[in-house]
Amino acid sequence: MIPLLNRNEACWCGSQKKYKKCHLEHDNRLNQFKREGYPIPSRSLIKTEKDIEGIRKACLLTKKILDELDTIIEIGISTEDINQWVHKKITDAGATPATLGYKGFPKSCCTSLNNIICHGIPDKNTLLKEGDLLNVDLTSILEGYYGDSCRMYPVGQISKEAQKLSDVTKECLKLAIEVIEPFKPINIIGEVISNHAESHGYSVVKMFGGHGIGNKFHEDPFVYHCRSNHKQMIMVPNLTFTIEPMINAGKSDGKILDDGWTAVTIDDSLSAQWEHTILVTETGAEILT
Ligand code: MF3
Ligand code: CO
Ligand code: CO
Repeated sequence: MIPLLNRNEACWCGSQKKYKKCHLEHDNRLNQFKREGYPIPSRSLIKTEKDIEGIRKACLLTKKILDELDTIIEIGISTEDINQWVHKKITDAGATPATLGYKGFPKSCCTSLNNIICHGIPDKNTLLKEGDLLNVDLTSILEGYYGDSCRMYPVGQISKEAQKLSDVTKECLKLAIEVIEPFKPINIIGEVISNHAESHGYSVVKMFGGHGIGNKFHEDPFVYHCRSNHKQMIMVPNLTFTIEPMINAGKSDGKILDDGWTAVTIDDSLSAQWEHTILVTETGAEILT
């Protein structure tokens, strides 16, 4: 149970308002959910206005770099070329690539081609070829704050099947963002993603999820993209997390290659992923990336 503050004391959130005029009502609602068995966010996950400004800036940088990537992706360049370009963009902006050295990951972004679900490692011998379906996932750390996003990039002319998988995955992300409301459990995200993906005969990857983010790369909550029978965390205003559905054309299972990172589909089917960092607001969600 959240410890009770006196109604007239300053609110715990640092707003300098009285508790009764600030988070009292919010805490009462959360305590009710807690009694019903839902996990509720700890106060440290609820971002201050200052944090949100910082996260916004980091997210904007990530977005700009992903926008500009469109202009350099072409047949014949290597995924390592992409990595070096991304590394320079992030560091020139005074930021740091979060993936470089993260739990030993060796590069400044992830490049995941075709049957790679996620965490593909850029490599100078992997050249982009006509018809490839590429995902680039990058996270900037700017002034201590994180912004994480990924997109699909078609290489030359891609197949109708690949385009449709990418489009449906992007729709899954959009629908999930639209369904967000404060004081609802995170379960609704996996529900809407699964419904949409499965209606097209696709499957949702279960081995990875989205994550809380902001002052750290990965924090609570774990964001399921699949259905879950367990009560997941209740969303509240100023919670920041990613939604990053990975959708497979075939089976939902994957496996990790010997490099310890690259996750591929078990049946070699195509996989797509789109990711945004979002902020829960009083009425819904705002896309920060
Ligand atoms: N950016 C990925 C995510 O969306 C995490 C990559 S971690 C790495 O959570 F180490 F593989 F780069
Ligand atoms: Co990411
Ligand atoms: Co992420």
